[in-house]
Amino acid sequence: MLKIVVFISGRGSNLKAILSHIQDGSLKAEVCAVISDKPEAAGLELAKNAGVPAIVVPRLPKNRSLAEFNAELAATALNYSPDLVVLAGFMRVVTTEFLSAFPGRVVNIHPSLLPSFKGLHAQKQAVEAGVKFAGCTVHYVNEEVDSGGIIAQAVVPVLPNDSEDSLSQRILEKEHKLFPAVLQAFASGQITIGDTGDIQQETNSLVSLNLLVTA
Ligand code: GAR
Repeated sequence: MLKIVVFISGRGSNLKAILSHIQDGSLKAEVCAVISDKPEAAGLELAKNAGVPAIVVPRLPKNRSLAEFNAELAATALNYSPDLVVLAGFMRVVTTEFLSAFPGRVVNIHPSLLPSFKGLHAQKQAVEAGVKFAGCTVHYVNEEVDSGGIIAQAVVPVLPNDSEDSLSQRILEKEHKLFPAVLQAFASGQITIGDTGDIQQETNSLVSLNLLVTA
C-alpha cells in the first residue's frame, strides 16, 4: 500500500478526488496525514471526515525564516514515513530543507501544460495568451518553482468565451482524474522510485497513462 502525505492550502478538491478513488478501490494508497499551512483550509475537514490526521503548520510567525518553516513541514511529514509526498494545491514555495527529506519523492499538480504558465494564476495566463489548449501537469518537485520532471499531463480545449473561472473548472475536472491515476501508477509500480531517489519510468506505461487521461 502506497503511503502518502498530502499538503494543501485551501479547498482540497484534489484531496477529495484522491480520497474517493481510495474509497472506491481504484487507488491502492493510504493518506497517512493531510498538512496545511492555513488553519482555515476547507480540505482539513475532508481529511477529518475521512479519519485522516489533519495538521496545520502555519507559515507564521513571520519572523521565522522560510528554511525553518520548510524544516518543520518536513519533520511533520516524516512522522508518517510516507513513500510519496503529494502537493495538492499547496501554495507555498518548498525549499531544500523540505525536499532533501524526501529525495525524488515529492510530486505536485499544476493547472497548466508545463513548461508554459508557471506560477500563480496559470489559467488566467493561458486565457490571456490566447492558447487553444490548456490542461494540467503532475510533476516532480525541485527547488525551482513548477520546473521538475513532468510525469503526466491532461489536455482541455480553451473555448472562445472562456474566463479564468470557466477554464479553471474544465482543467480541474481533469486534475481530479489525472492525479489519482498518477498516484495509482506509483502504487502499482508502473512508476518506480529508486533507492537513491533516481526515478525510473517505464515509458510505455506513461504513454498509456497519458492516453487514459486525455481521452
Ligand atoms: C488546483 O487547481 C491546483 O492545480 C492548483 O491549485 C488548485 C487547488 O485546488 N495548484 C497550483 O496552482 C500550484 N501552483 P484544490 O485545493 O481544490 O485541490
